[in-house]
Amino acid sequence: MNRLTGKVAIVTGGANGIGRGIAEAFAKEGANVVIADIAAQEQATAVIDAITQMGRSTCYVQTDVANEQQVQAMVTTALQTFGHIDILVNNAGIFTQSLVEDLPIADWDRVLNVNLRGTFLCTRFVLPHMLAQGSGRIINIASQLGYIGGREVAHYSASKGGVIAFTKALAREVATRNVLVNGIAPGPILTDLMASETEEWKAAKLAELPIGRFGEVSEVAPTAVFLASDDASYYVGQILGPNGGDVML
Ligand SMILES: NC(=O)c1ccc[n+]([C@@H]2O[C@H](COP(=O)([O-])OP(=O)(O)OC[C@H]3O[C@@H](n4cnc5c(N)ncnc54)[C@H](O)[C@@H]3O)[C@@H](O)[C@H]2O)c1
Repeated sequence: MNRLTGKVAIVTGGANGIGRGIAEAFAKEGANVVIADIAAQEQATAVIDAITQMGRSTCYVQTDVANEQQVQAMVTTALQTFGHIDILVNNAGIFTQSLVEDLPIADWDRVLNVNLRGTFLCTRFVLPHMLAQGSGRIINIASQLGYIGGREVAHYSASKGGVIAFTKALAREVATRNVLVNGIAPGPILTDLMASETEEWKAAKLAELPIGRFGEVSEVAPTAVFLASDDASYYVGQILGPNGGDVML
């Protein structure tokens, strides 16, 4: 408890799923949380209420992380509201499925724009403030598909492989200036994002998962709390894997 007291975190895609779980876990540890999500604020009532009931402050900024102007405005609002930003979680992400031979160009562009460009844009506008204040944590939510790839998800896999490489490269640039950058590559976690998977895929995945079940959001959020906390002071460019044993590196 209270490992993040006094900290201010931005969580992108925090209205739902893993991002919501991270936002609430941060608040439970004492952080105030800016939620930047493309969804309308009405769709984030549950997470806003949960954070407020914990006695923390939250600020909701409807943001498309792929949009430069909206990201810049979101970061300005976060600074105007709380005065500083200590933690950035680049979690917003989307997922579609298609064989490459049929993949609509628009799907490639949108998935890369949200998952990879969005991670870059949020980092680009937050990082100068972290460097100026001499501290910060950036946590990028990748995916194990960024390592191993997956049938019908080449575009998603490419975006997440890009997030992993970006995490490592940025970590090398800024670690000596006390901004620590790490990532999380979850396995299959029960959220809306997984809802589009077929029953056939789910059965096959369950059969090969060493732990024999899909993960819960509550099994990913503690990894983000750890990476944001003082306990992770020697973690630089690491990609942690709450994945039920699906990928062992
Ligand atoms: N669920 C899984 O199995 C799994 C596995 C590995 C990685 N991930 C990654 O975890 C992250 C969260 O996924 P999830 O499962 O919670 O998904 P989700 O669909 O439940 O939630 C995603 C959230 O991101 C928001 N969002 C979507 N596009 C956005 C945009 N352009 N700008 C801002 N917000 C946007 C959505 O409104 C939503 O609130 C994603 O990056 C995803 O790729 C998920």
